[in-house]
Amino acid sequence: MSAVCLRTEQLRKDYGGLRAVDGVNLEVREGERRAIIGPNGAGKTTLFHLLSGEVPPSGGRILLYGQDITHLPSYRRTALGIGRTYQVTNLFPRLSVLENVLLATFGLRRQKYDPFRPALAHREAVEDARRLLEEFGLWEKRDWPIGSLSYGEQRQLEIVLALAGRPRVLLLDEPTAGLSPAETHLVTHLVAGLDPRITVLLIEHDMDVAFQVAQRVTVMHFGRVLAEGTVDDVRRNPEVQAIYLGVEEL
Ligand SMILES: Nc1ncnc2c1ncn2[C@@H]1O[C@H](COP(=O)(O)OP(=O)(O)OP(=O)(O)O)[C@@H](O)[C@H]1O
Ligand SMILES: [Mg+2]
Repeated sequence: MSAVCLRTEQLRKDYGGLRAVDGVNLEVREGERRAIIGPNGAGKTTLFHLLSGEVPPSGGRILLYGQDITHLPSYRRTALGIGRTYQVTNLFPRLSVLENVLLATFGLRRQKYDPFRPALAHREAVEDARRLLEEFGLWEKRDWPIGSLSYGEQRQLEIVLALAGRPRVLLLDEPTAGLSPAETHLVTHLVAGLDPRITVLLIEHDMDVAFQVAQRVTVMHFGRVLAEGTVDDVRRNPEVQAIYLGVEEL
């Protein structure tokens, strides 16, 4: 069995009187694809904010490969290998696709830009960027300002930008939200085909996507883990079926 990559112990986040994340214990193994599902307001995004360091926890611990990262700032977590997507529209909409990927490569990479080897470092970065953009079918549009990409392409570029930082753990919050069926299929395929050494946590409302990509599923409800197990375990769980009542198929 592979090593435990990410562990949370009694992780908690309170917003005033609201307990958004309530004593969550997670154990995710290296290379695992873990889907996090649950109804609106279940605490899924807040859990990601806690993992990436966007918000401080109210209690509990977060361990990355055994190292306590609970109180590290988010840039330190990025350097340790936690990658997440950001809305591309919040980045540099007037810079080109390639420029954005290069910035992400230099900005997020553990091995920083080396001013004494500028040409070589630049060439390697462009090579990395080209490989990623080709894989995602965006190389042809490398000179486009990202603001001119379609919505679906922008969502794909968000994943490219996260991958440019060479994460060991990738947090994807609803990567298929708002995509057409064809784009959803493409992104599902891409996520399923990511480097198997990368551990992926995926928040998904689309059950088909979650169940196609993940081996294990964690179901959150009111900030807690309601159920966890294989796709089949979770599908058969009566409590899970109850909270998804009205959803035709699980
Ligand atoms: N910054 C905040 N201040 C106050 N309350 C918040 C804040 N962020 C989230 N919440 C509340 O915490 C709860 C969990 O929210 P969260 O966004 O984590 O849910 P979610 O599972 O991601 O939902 P969705 O499926 O709709 O994205 C909700 O009740 C939400 O209103
Ligand atoms: Mg959310």
